[in-house]
Amino acid sequence: MNAYLNGQFLPLSEAKISPLDRGFLFGDGGYEVIPVYSRHPFRIDEHLRRMQATLDGLRIVNPHSNDEWRAIILRLIEAAGFADQAVYIQVTRGADIRRDHAFPQGVTPTVFLFTAPLVGPTRTQREAGIAAITATDIRWDRCDLKSVSMVGNVLTRQLAVDAGCAEAIMLRDGFLTEGSSTNVFCVRNGIILCPPKDNRILPGITYDVVLELAARHGAPFAVRPVAEAEVRAADELWITSSTKEVLAITTLDGKPVGQGAQAGKPGPVTRQMHAWYAAFRDEVMRVAAV
Ligand code: PDD
Repeated sequence: MNAYLNGQFLPLSEAKISPLDRGFLFGDGGYEVIPVYSRHPFRIDEHLRRMQATLDGLRIVNPHSNDEWRAIILRLIEAAGFADQAVYIQVTRGADIRRDHAFPQGVTPTVFLFTAPLVGPTRTQREAGIAAITATDIRWDRCDLKSVSMVGNVLTRQLAVDAGCAEAIMLRDGFLTEGSSTNVFCVRNGIILCPPKDNRILPGITYDVVLELAARHGAPFAVRPVAEAEVRAADELWITSSTKEVLAITTLDGKPVGQGAQAGKPGPVTRQMHAWYAAFRDEVMRVAAV
């Protein structure tokens, strides 16, 4: 049983939805991805809070209380045959009996979850960093909602793949927004810079952890708009997400990131932040296991 659909735990291969589901027809729904280490979900409360914000923004009534969500998620985690997992949750407005853009009346939201082995960066990516490209941010004005309407992210990510790169970082009106499925941090003159959590980026759970760790360890940081020129002149760049954690970008648009001997290698602030992140994650999981 590695899936859950509308009240039933079942094998993913047996989960079936209506073709009139509004998630399928309109991308009318929200989602979350929660990392799980040794069967302990990481930052589950924060993920559930963000899902509530997404559903509020989409005007979908949350079909479950947080206690109900936790029970479903924990049962799915227990039933899986692997310990480190990525739990995917999707809630759509539901399946109507016809296709109409306006909200249907009396339709129950579709709730779908599945869990899969957690796939983090490869060892080479971790040690050497990744190559990224820049791309114009072609998405809508509510990137703060974790909506399943993701064709802008999909097209952007494919640009990276076409260029032989792992991620595309997006620029809007001359400023950094985020990666196709990650948040982006920039280091200049020892200061960590990242764009504010407004409607142009997803408020990442890992983003928050990184800023908490910077504050805790006294690493200087500034949350403010980051200009394209600052990104291109960065000493270090890294991306964050629930599955990638903290991962260095070491080439951008084919040019090495950073200067001098550090150029094209994961820099000291990135490596330090990843070490803080890993230690924090392990500590949280150790406490959860007691
Ligand atoms: N992506 N920005 C975008 C556009 C994202 O899709 C994600 C996450 C993030 C990072 O958020 P967090 O730290 O909460 O994972 C930022 C998930 C992992 C995905 O779509 O698979």
